[in-house]
Amino acid sequence: MKYQLKHSVLLVTVFILAIISCSTKKHTLSIVPDDIVDKKIDSLLAIMTIEEKVGQMNLYNGFWDVTGPVPKGSSSNLKYEHLKKGYVGAMLNIRGVEHVRELQRIAVEESRLGIPLLFGFDVIHGLKTLSPIPLAESASWDLQAIENSARVAAIEASAAGINWTFAPMVDISRDPRWGRVMEGAGEDTYLGSKIAKARVKGFQGNDLSKNNTIAACAKHFAAYGFSESGKEYNTVSIDNVTLLNTVLPPFKAAVDSDVKTVMNSFNTLNGIPVTASKYLQRTILKDGWNFEGFVVSDWASINELIFWGHAKDKKEAAKLASVAGSDMDMEGYVYIRELANLVNEGIVEESLINDAARRILKVKFELGLFEDPYRYCNEENQKEMIGSESNNEAVLDMAKKSIVLLKNEKNLLPLNKAGQKIALIGELASDKNSPLGSWRLASDDNTAVSVLEGMKVYKDNSITYTKGVDVFLGKTSFISELKINNTDNSGIKEAVDLAKTSDVVVMVLGEHGFQSGEARSRTSIDLPGLQQKLLEAVYEVNKNIVLVLQNGRPLTIEWASENIPAIVEGWQLGTQSGHAIAQVLYGDYNPSGKLPMTFPRNVGQIPIYYNHKSTGRPNNSQNNVFWSHYSDKENTPLYQFGHGLSYTDFKYKNLSIEQNGTSSNKKVKVSVDITNTGKYDGKEVVQLYIRDLVASITRPVKELKGFELIELQKGETKTITFELTDNELGFFNNKGDFIVEKGDFQVFVGGSSITSLQDQFTL
Ligand code: BGC
Repeated sequence: MKYQLKHSVLLVTVFILAIISCSTKKHTLSIVPDDIVDKKIDSLLAIMTIEEKVGQMNLYNGFWDVTGPVPKGSSSNLKYEHLKKGYVGAMLNIRGVEHVRELQRIAVEESRLGIPLLFGFDVIHGLKTLSPIPLAESASWDLQAIENSARVAAIEASAAGINWTFAPMVDISRDPRWGRVMEGAGEDTYLGSKIAKARVKGFQGNDLSKNNTIAACAKHFAAYGFSESGKEYNTVSIDNVTLLNTVLPPFKAAVDSDVKTVMNSFNTLNGIPVTASKYLQRTILKDGWNFEGFVVSDWASINELIFWGHAKDKKEAAKLASVAGSDMDMEGYVYIRELANLVNEGIVEESLINDAARRILKVKFELGLFEDPYRYCNEENQKEMIGSESNNEAVLDMAKKSIVLLKNEKNLLPLNKAGQKIALIGELASDKNSPLGSWRLASDDNTAVSVLEGMKVYKDNSITYTKGVDVFLGKTSFISELKINNTDNSGIKEAVDLAKTSDVVVMVLGEHGFQSGEARSRTSIDLPGLQQKLLEAVYEVNKNIVLVLQNGRPLTIEWASENIPAIVEGWQLGTQSGHAIAQVLYGDYNPSGKLPMTFPRNVGQIPIYYNHKSTGRPNNSQNNVFWSHYSDKENTPLYQFGHGLSYTDFKYKNLSIEQNGTSSNKKVKVSVDITNTGKYDGKEVVQLYIRDLVASITRPVKELKGFELIELQKGETKTITFELTDNELGFFNNKGDFIVEKGDFQVFVGGSSITSLQDQFTL
């Protein structure tokens, strides 16, 4: 009787909230003012029990366990019971309108308060129709294209009932041994920040309550990309200057772009597991940057506080994480088990739980889920949007833009479209699975266009294919370790024989899609298995080799770089991979990609990155050994950050610098002329770097501070002007203050981080 009375009061309250919500939406085109949303949340929080508030902080995985160990005690039954009680705020890895609708129905219609669920999914570079892996997309330096790609991903994901993606990953990394470099934007903070913004905008659009926009999640907060020795889930020790200047700006850019959620990570930062870091989550993110969304833990990372030796048990882990500002527990069962008791015992303040629940509820309001919890559940839309022709066209466009031409001697590329006898060699050339990468939980196996299929479109050439060697053994999968053939070289002879009688050899070599990504750290980043042997054997009989790389990280390919005349970086380019590569090889698309990450000569050089500090002994001016170098290898990378060729040539000249602005806010204008001097129309990424020559904190030898992607017809010249303001000229000091120091600055402009054109100004 008591419950019935309470229940009807609640229904009336929720009903009133719904009416306010609907009427406000009609008049404001779905953008509800913050104070109204806050009032609605106040009313809701006022009628929630502590268990229900903690329930909002609980995120459960769906029915299959793919990305991490499942903590003991979990069962689908328990999850269902909790759903019915309103003890679940969100689910992950559920997709498809039918599944989402059913779970949402339980939450909305069977729980006491009927609060809708969030449905999260790793929509990293598409749902079913896959775009290139994020590192590859970043090689396009094409912010509009990257935004569009995230838009297409959001359109497919929302059509499948998903309203929250665990992307973009904005971790800066300088270590290609770390498998997750494939998921980010590379090594550079400036480029990474621009890309973070583009991706957030693509996912969230201008109005989050639309049926085809989804909440984004900037991850992994923070410094996961600096995992010691490139080993997954590891310790991170970096100084505050690196944290503030290098690691955090892409997160800040995401927050400034109104990203709704942030995910913390598995690593420690200077001794503290970041899931328990108050400094990161409260001092910087919530208090410093006024982030109003919520922080989700990474998979069971709250439990991992115990394994790190930072919390003695789950109770302490729950306390540390919640006090530090982790608002939602991903598949860890820790909050749901411990938090209400911690509050009742007076160990954790209820205001912290209210704050976390408020943040989570706010995102649900903003997504329009209180207005219509089934707004992402439209079967027809699902049918029409997922895998549509226009989505495929979009990912093909992105794939072409992501390709980087690393080397092209004797103009071996583009290939003739007719009359050539081409040998196509390499297991990866016919692989329809690997180009999908490792984050493709909702895409069907073997659905990528292979290079073989892409090249066969060009019918007037004779193409003969042989794989040469088996590289990857057994069935590949997201959760298992990949096996590599290191012994059976029996197929090499057939490849050599074929190469002998061919005009050109196209060899597709590299890593499998499941060799990079989460938990795919490698100590060697050479070509796996016997591929190097195969390459050298073919080279013995035919030097006209075009090497197409397929990989999720920079590889050490020094021999190839010295000997093979043409090298194309073809990454893992997603569903349309083979068409994109073939169109570049045949010159139907003139490549314009630039490396977002340095290629080392060997692993001993790692971490190698262009924006390093000078050292006190930067050169061998004394002509002896006492300078900063290796005695067995040069300091220079194999391919530098920003490098990428075109089938045409670009000349840079007339660099000029002009200063204006007020003394408290200086503006420096840098202009340069670029001319297309080659034989093709083409695109170029014009890059601007600066060096602050003398500063109170040592500054990098070069830092990207501007870029523009331009298109030039044959013979055309364009003048590009960049503006440098305090934002570009300043830096964070050790105290965390952003300062701009007077003095001399060098400016470099060109088509990569190694440029000859430079000038100087004094601030
Ligand atoms: C990864 C996250 C991912 C999560 C959910 C974790 O293992 O680190 O990036 O979003 O799983 O799948």
